[in-house]
Amino acid sequence: MHEPKSVNPSMQKIMANASLKGGLSWGVSGSAREITRRRKFPTVEDLRATARRRVPGFSFEYVDGGAGLDRGVVRNAAALDAVEIVARYGREQTDPPLDVTLFGQKYSAPLGIAPMGLPGLIWPGAEIHLARAAQRARIPYTAATVGGVAIERLGAIAPDVLWFQLYRLPDDDHAAAFDLVRRAKDAGARVLVLTLDVPARMKRPRELRNGLLVPFKLSARMIYEAATSPAWSAALMRHGQPTFANLAQYAGNKATAGEIAGFTQREVRGAFTWDEVARFRDAWDGPVVVKGILHPGDAEQAVSLGIDGIQVSNHGGRHLEGAPPSIDVLPAVAAAIGDKATVLFDGGVRSGLDVVRALALGASAALAGRAFLYALGALGEDGPAYVIDLLTEEIRTSLRQLGIPSPDAVRLLRVRHPGAMRFP
Ligand SMILES: Cc1cc2nc3c(=O)[nH]c(=O)nc-3n(C[C@H](O)[C@H](O)[C@H](O)COP(=O)(O)O)c2cc1C
Repeated sequence: MHEPKSVNPSMQKIMANASLKGGLSWGVSGSAREITRRRKFPTVEDLRATARRRVPGFSFEYVDGGAGLDRGVVRNAAALDAVEIVARYGREQTDPPLDVTLFGQKYSAPLGIAPMGLPGLIWPGAEIHLARAAQRARIPYTAATVGGVAIERLGAIAPDVLWFQLYRLPDDDHAAAFDLVRRAKDAGARVLVLTLDVPARMKRPRELRNGLLVPFKLSARMIYEAATSPAWSAALMRHGQPTFANLAQYAGNKATAGEIAGFTQREVRGAFTWDEVARFRDAWDGPVVVKGILHPGDAEQAVSLGIDGIQVSNHGGRHLEGAPPSIDVLPAVAAAIGDKATVLFDGGVRSGLDVVRALALGASAALAGRAFLYALGALGEDGPAYVIDLLTEEIRTSLRQLGIPSPDAVRLLRVRHPGAMRFP
């Protein structure tokens, strides 16, 4: 079908009314603005393409890139694409309820926001918009240790859905990390997420080429890129330059943004040992998740320490470029721990169907990272809510298409998973 090249104003009105009444395009309804957005951004890939044009190049590269030559990022997506699920037909069609209970709390969908450091680079004030959208939609939002907005502020915005991700700060017998954990608890975080998969700092060439280094130096190119991204620059004026807000108070009284960045670079290091995991488990009165698990043996070890959740993840391809796609180890990890802990998944989620694929292979919920950041880059503060709607609608239609009554029933279907890894 061809769109008319130019439409006169009265024709435009008739078309807008038609859209509002019945919806001219497939499955799209709502206000004229929503319909326009749905037509412009039917997929996360459309959001990504617009984000690339709308934000400075150095911000986009920070978010989009992975370790090395990005092969891990590419493999995550390819491995998810390769997972096929066979539908069953002939049953009564119902709209499957999407809500899911994780660690004793009900959420509206098996979808969450993964922790991300400095998301304010792609859209200044990002955490505030992510937290707000998650709270409204009742999906988990994981605030990051190296976030740009302090945990106390996020707790006030998202009191019902806030999780907190902790990196290792080993100095002074983990004093700063234990203090952060206390602050997260006081701020109302419900789940503590310990990230294990960062034993070394990996090279991300796209960040190096763009000069995203500590100490940070603004280059002429960065200034040019910011100046030619007016909406992004206006958001920067409103929210200020992103800093490591959670860590600021440990960097010394009146530390400058540069000094806080230097402190973060120096002090946040290494991966938790199992002994350290046990110590943080004891310090947290509530559920604890370990993130970055790829081996069933590590999942079993965590469970034996009383960990409540395993987040199967390869950090979205940002650390070990040669790690397997997280979807390819998910079934083995899920089989190893059975119902002794809750299995979560992240890595490459770009659609509701990807979430359903993860559910089919043993996860109770999937978390997305970049999908939310692309939405912020494309739509600014409206982005997170937009992508939550987009993904939940796709989860619902995928489940309907598969002919099953609820998200967990997807595990009963026949799945072809060519990349599935076996562990002897
Ligand atoms: C810009 C960016 C920053 C991230 N920062 C963190 C972080 O501070 N802590 C952490 O545990 N994971 C971090 N991650 C990894 C995500 O939590 C998640 O594992 C990953 O993004 C999932 O892959 P996806 O982006 O393909 O959805 C980051 C990811 C991105 C894209």
